[in-house]
Amino acid sequence: MKGIILAGGSGTRLRPLTGALSKQLLPVYDKPMIYYPLSVLMLAGIRDIQIITSKAHLEMFRSLLGDGSRIGISVDYAEQEEPRGIAEAFLIGEEHIGDSPVALILGDNVFHGPGFSSVLATSGARLDGCELFGYPVKDPRRYGVAEIDAEGLLVSLEEKPVKPRSHLAVTGLYFYDNGVVDIARRLTPSARGELEITDVNKVYLEQGRARMTELGRGFAWLDMGTHSSLLQAGQYVQLLEQRQGVRISCIEEIALRMGFISPEQCHELGHELKSSSYGTYLMDVAEGYVAGPAA
Ligand code: G1P
Repeated sequence: MKGIILAGGSGTRLRPLTGALSKQLLPVYDKPMIYYPLSVLMLAGIRDIQIITSKAHLEMFRSLLGDGSRIGISVDYAEQEEPRGIAEAFLIGEEHIGDSPVALILGDNVFHGPGFSSVLATSGARLDGCELFGYPVKDPRRYGVAEIDAEGLLVSLEEKPVKPRSHLAVTGLYFYDNGVVDIARRLTPSARGELEITDVNKVYLEQGRARMTELGRGFAWLDMGTHSSLLQAGQYVQLLEQRQGVRISCIEEIALRMGFISPEQCHELGHELKSSSYGTYLMDVAEGYVAGPAA
């Protein structure tokens, strides 16, 4: 499966933080925001990843992540001239996707919870059409809202409904079969001139091939659209990391645990950053001093 991280947009709701910097490069406690969605794709076993961003920010992402080889993956970059909707990612990424299935993740989404890699593996293995990930929220009106049956099949889907039929928000992580490129090609732009991801998902819903995995209680899904949600995400990460002494969405550690790099390579990456606690953590991980997640 190929991966795409959509890191476009102009981050207007976060100005002036985003005056000179891409939103998805802002700090979320100890690491740039994009590390969080990147780590989700890596946990899903995806090693071929395209980052879609605006022309103004592309080189910044490239200088942060390069071609990905340092962490045993392949990263390339593509440009979204202006924000024209999430589903445009499949048109921009068409060549990257080729004839594979694809996982799309929004560059400002944090997912964290026990057993997440097995959840991703299960959903990836049963993919036939599309797999969405649902999360119960207090105010679903800000999101795509789904209803599902006992088997996890999607029953209804509405974008930002005034009267939501459930509390189940559609998160910014989506798995699709290869048909998604054709579906995106045939979409009509919405009233706001965008190719809406919800319209893509509705095509799969009508075909009876849209499923949803529920991320339940005890799981964290955070998006970072406002100053306070950005700070809250940072505080969440700080609290857990300081309490447990392990790092959330540490891409080098994930690369090691997924077998993408060797302990020696992980140690070397840590050594390069040895004046920061992040670097010493990587060296500890490489030397086996940090317990991995329970399987
Ligand atoms: C988009 C999707 C929405 C989804 C949300 C997740 O909304 O359209 O269905 O619930 O991402 O973050 P946006 O953030 O573009 O308003």
